[in-house]
Amino acid sequence: MAILKILQYPDKRLHLVAKPVQSVTAATRKLIGDMAETMYAAPGVGLAATQVDVREQIIVIDISETHDDLLVLINPEILASSGEVDREEGCLSVPGIYEELRRAERITVRALDTQGESFTLEAEGLLATCVQHEMDHLKGKVFVEYLSQLKQSRIRAKLNKHRRETM
Ligand code: NI
Repeated sequence: MAILKILQYPDKRLHLVAKPVQSVTAATRKLIGDMAETMYAAPGVGLAATQVDVREQIIVIDISETHDDLLVLINPEILASSGEVDREEGCLSVPGIYEELRRAERITVRALDTQGESFTLEAEGLLATCVQHEMDHLKGKVFVEYLSQLKQSRIRAKLNKHRRETM
């Protein structure tokens, strides 16, 4: 397995839209393994293929404290959603920035697993927020883009300053 480079906001490649995976192959599983390793190493609770510069609809998530409950969603679709909840989100592509967003509280998602089998997942709480956040990445959307223009420009300035200081 390998640790992949995570694109950093405002990299334009984060806005590219992912395509459905046509067939789940050994190469797909290799990519998923690398994505999981990259997420755990960061460390983070979720990673979308878009963030490692791959335009395929693949997400890895693990919200467990023990990092041993990997959820893989290939070609995820939201079938139903209900409720609303405000939760603070962060993103491996936007380091050090945490902002509260409103999202659906409960969702039903259909996806393929690593064997290419279809399954349905009922998610709520942090997991539901995470799935929605990562699915946004597949559509080319980064969570800070829900914020006001003023907040977004402040965030870009903060990230640029941080990058200059650490280069
Ligand atoms: Ni993210």
